[in-house]
Amino acid sequence: MRSLKNILVTGGCGFIGCNFIRVMLKKTSDFTGRIINLDALTYAGNPESLSDIESEFGNTRYFFEHGDICDRPLVESLFRKYNIDTVVHFAAESHVDRSIHGPEAFIVTNVMGTFTLLDIARNIWKNSGGTMRDDVLFHHISTDEVYGSLGESGYFTETTAYDPRSPYSSSKASSDHLVSAYYHTYGLPVTISNCSNNYGPYQFPEKLIPLMILNMLEGKPLPVYGDGKNIRDWLYVEDHNSAVWAILKNGRNGERYNIGGENEWENIALLYELIAIVSKKTGIDAEKIRGTITFVRDRPGHDRRYAIDCSRVKCDLGWKQSVSFEAGLNKTVDWYLSNSEWVDRIRSGEYKKWVEKNYSQRV
Ligand code: NAD
Ligand code: TYD
Repeated sequence: MRSLKNILVTGGCGFIGCNFIRVMLKKTSDFTGRIINLDALTYAGNPESLSDIESEFGNTRYFFEHGDICDRPLVESLFRKYNIDTVVHFAAESHVDRSIHGPEAFIVTNVMGTFTLLDIARNIWKNSGGTMRDDVLFHHISTDEVYGSLGESGYFTETTAYDPRSPYSSSKASSDHLVSAYYHTYGLPVTISNCSNNYGPYQFPEKLIPLMILNMLEGKPLPVYGDGKNIRDWLYVEDHNSAVWAILKNGRNGERYNIGGENEWENIALLYELIAIVSKKTGIDAEKIRGTITFVRDRPGHDRRYAIDCSRVKCDLGWKQSVSFEAGLNKTVDWYLSNSEWVDRIRSGEYKKWVEKNYSQRV
């Protein structure tokens, strides 16, 4: 088992990263080290998502650094300042629709940003004789979307050939290949995880589940792309993060792990589930909400089906999902019902004022 002391989390103010940091510092008894969160605070990153963590662990076990993963001098200085021995690399441009409208940011952050981090890690993690340290790890967070699109049957395994279709998934595929190249070429200790669709608290409301919940609450149309029969495999965000922790501790160097919910849903069927839950919790008439479903023009290159075979992480590392879809959706709806201020601020960028107040010296 690896002993991890100083973890550089990139993109820790985003959806999955902030849930990861919270779980690591509040619920993971076998982690006693420090987390350094480097985040550029794009539209998707909100440090307010970690205000409880900042109050409890700020400047003892949790350190926020505002900056870009492409900023080489900054990243190098952070490696040295905090004696980083582990990188958990979440930072990315993450939304497919945005990548269709503006692919460049995806290439810059997802490809160049990952390259910058890898290259710094390989230089700083060398022993004085030039060999690579073996007590360090670069863990790269990736997606099942790199494998492309499935038909009605079959699953993505760790050996499925890459076949990305969107600028987002192709930028993630490129970054995965770079990580793999740094393992084979330079002996950098790396692991990669490819996860299916996550859902849960703190997700930016442009992704399917939070967008639909909020549109239902606000009486807005529910835009369903194409025929609504595209299939995604859904995993509660804490289950993704418990798999990441299992990999950090015991994953084999150079290995890739698929992570999934084993929980496939057609978009339209998922929407009906969500409508039932929102209606029950709010008293808004379900029939009325259903009347707002609007089939809209399909996303170009829309992948039909994703489905993950996650037997490797289960068999080799003893991981399993712990939150049922019903329980996870209920928790998620409850969270959005009681966090309307967070929603307002992240949508409007208002949280930047909170950043200025709390990080005035650094921002
Ligand atoms: P997100 O968009 O919610 O958050 C991304 C975070 O990265 C934000 O805080 C943003 O400010 C930060 N960031 C962006 N560019 C940066 C840069 N240049 N330098 C520093 N920080 C930067 O994303 P997410 O949904 O939390 O996804 C996190 C990771 O997980 C991504 O790598 C994504 O590809 C992967 N992933 C996501 C899902 C999903 O369903 N959301 C599924 C599988 C894999
Ligand atoms: P999304 O949350 O964007 O995740 P991804 O594209 O990475 O899987 O979308 C999930 C599915 O929902 C996908 O098939 C596209 C579809 N979708 C809609 O039908 N309407 C929407 O408004 C959004 C955002 C997504």
